[in-house]
Amino acid sequence: MRHPEEITKPVSFSCDHIDTVGEVFVKNPRIECRNVDVHYGEKHAIHNVSLDVSRNEVIALIGPSGCGKSTFLRCLNRMNDTISGCRVTGEIKLDGQDIYAEGLDVVPLRAQVGMVFQKPNPFPKSIFENVAYGPRIHGLASNKAELEETVEKSLRRAGLWEEVKDYLHHPGTGLSGGQQQRLCIARTIAVNPEVILMDEPCSALDPIATAKIEQLIDDLRELYTIAIVTHSMQQAARVSQRTAYFHLGKLIEVGDTAQIFTNPRHQLTEDYITGRFG
Ligand SMILES: Nc1ncnc2c1ncn2[C@@H]1O[C@H](COP(=O)(O)OP(=O)(O)O)[C@@H](O)[C@H]1O
Ligand SMILES: [Mg+2]
Repeated sequence: MRHPEEITKPVSFSCDHIDTVGEVFVKNPRIECRNVDVHYGEKHAIHNVSLDVSRNEVIALIGPSGCGKSTFLRCLNRMNDTISGCRVTGEIKLDGQDIYAEGLDVVPLRAQVGMVFQKPNPFPKSIFENVAYGPRIHGLASNKAELEETVEKSLRRAGLWEEVKDYLHHPGTGLSGGQQQRLCIARTIAVNPEVILMDEPCSALDPIATAKIEQLIDDLRELYTIAIVTHSMQQAARVSQRTAYFHLGKLIEVGDTAQIFTNPRHQLTEDYITGRFG
């Protein structure tokens, strides 16, 4: 489902000879990126990317391997800070606040902007402890009952509660791959994020587990802003309202997902979605 009222008229954003085709800006954005560049040492991985993400939107980031999708995603919760030699410039705002502001504490930021990775990575702890960990370290529950309530609510939202409610003290690593990924989503949800970043969250999962996660993403959109990197164009088409196409570190085109897949405006986007490269 799209939010046409939230999308401004198509604009072409042009800067330093990089033109992104499509609706870069949205009304009432949750995330605003302006002129973002990323370097790994000498390597220039992201070139002057400007892009907004709306509230209650799933945006899919697509493009050939190595085009900078993961790098761009990691800018949004300052995970690139953890990579030595990585330098991010430009401006990124979350709800109007500069997330690269001097003195900003990245610990609460990474709770506000949670991340789910390609390979499910539950902690070597029980199912309960996986979900309770975040609320505990962020001081979000004042007693045991409140913590239990948060764990249950998070597991319910992640569509996992019914499957695990009788096994909460079993190890998280004992679950199937798809269940582990939903556990990781529950862990992310447990600390009240505003944004959830997902980097190819289904690429290690079978088709049934993938379908469950895709359904879940659609349900979660009501509550969270979601940016998902996917190499599956079918998945991008199924789960997202907007799609951004990256090529060699540049944002080539962004727009309504249906439009990107049926009527791309840039030749490079068309070449990619028709399978000419990638
Ligand atoms: N930690 C890193 N150190 C150096 N170069 C990196 C690092 N991570 C990614 N890169 C380079 O940055 C570019 C973008 O990579 P990445 O964001 O992983 O692309 P994608 O997720 O689209 O496959 C690639 O050329 C990659 O080799
Ligand atoms: Mg990647």
